[in-house]
Amino acid sequence: MSNHCSGVRPENPYLPHPARIIRTLPQIPDHQLFQIRFEKEQMAESFTYRPGQFVMLSVIGTGEAPFSISSSPTRPGNIELCVRRIGHVTDALFRLRPNALVGVRGPYGNGFPIEKLEGNNLLLVAGGLGMAPLRSLLWYALDNRSKFNNVTLMYGAKNPDDMLFKYELLNLIDRADVKCLLTVDTDESGIWKAHVGVVTTLFGHAEIDPSNTYAAICGPEIMFKFVLNELLKRNFPKDRILMSLERNMQCGVGKCGHCMVGYKYTCLDGPIFTYWDAINLPEMI
Ligand SMILES: Cc1cc2nc3c(=O)[nH]c(=O)nc-3n(C[C@H](O)[C@H](O)[C@H](O)COP(=O)(O)OP(=O)(O)OC[C@H]3O[C@@H](n4cnc5c(N)ncnc54)[C@H](O)[C@@H]3O)c2cc1C
Ligand code: FES
Repeated sequence: MSNHCSGVRPENPYLPHPARIIRTLPQIPDHQLFQIRFEKEQMAESFTYRPGQFVMLSVIGTGEAPFSISSSPTRPGNIELCVRRIGHVTDALFRLRPNALVGVRGPYGNGFPIEKLEGNNLLLVAGGLGMAPLRSLLWYALDNRSKFNNVTLMYGAKNPDDMLFKYELLNLIDRADVKCLLTVDTDESGIWKAHVGVVTTLFGHAEIDPSNTYAAICGPEIMFKFVLNELLKRNFPKDRILMSLERNMQCGVGKCGHCMVGYKYTCLDGPIFTYWDAINLPEMI
């Protein structure tokens, strides 16, 4: 998808738009959900994106970094970013309080090919922070429920205290229009009511027809390997497996070359790639 068909873009692609932190919602240790709203009301209301796209967020005086948009374009107004504190920019971001000014440019990247996905079953497989971009797709599908067939989420975390969006997702378990399968590697709490085991064990709890399903995967590298094995065992077509792959990025707009893998710019051609793309670019995974 071209970057020019979504969102309101500044003339200078490097110029961030002023935005304010509306709310910070702690999730698990060192992970927070930031609700952010553009200063200009017209921008706040008209800003749109596709699930799987990202923005460059700048912390004034520190620097900027890419973050997947975790909210869904079906709920305009604020955007939500789920951030892990890992270094320079994210440390500074975590020190900011509601009402603090930040800069946002984007949306960038291709996002999920929504038009292709419509009319199909959706299988979302996430591990850890991989839920951040997939949450956008999940809510997009649930808010446009009639456009999709079966929607299945498989999400794994290390333990119950490490699960992002835990209460939001636990609330989905009882819904009839989505199969929400949650698992943890280990549970010492004794009160965890969902599954225990690595995310691939959830494949035993869902019926998946590869001929009319698109799978979207995001998570740690090791998870990709095992989830891909499960999908390929079921003869999933390679172009029906979509993966969100993150690479080091600087400009986000195809100028600096930092994100290049082979001949692809992951900031423009990605971060969503099919498995077919990935096997033709071996350094991709
Ligand atoms: C398209 C895209 C989407 C992303 N979406 C999210 C998101 O939704 N939420 C989120 O928290 N992060 C996301 N990231 C990663 C995020 O951009 C980095 O964590 C951020 O740039 C770190 O900036 P920093 O200045 O805080 O850390 P730095 O000071 O730059 O780095 C600190 C240390 O962390 C390492 N590091 C940096 N990035 C990563 C990484 N991705 N994985 C593992 N180690 C890393 C560095 O090598 C360094 O050792 C995304 C990245 C991309 C490219
Ligand atoms: S991040 Fe600069 S070219 Fe992709």
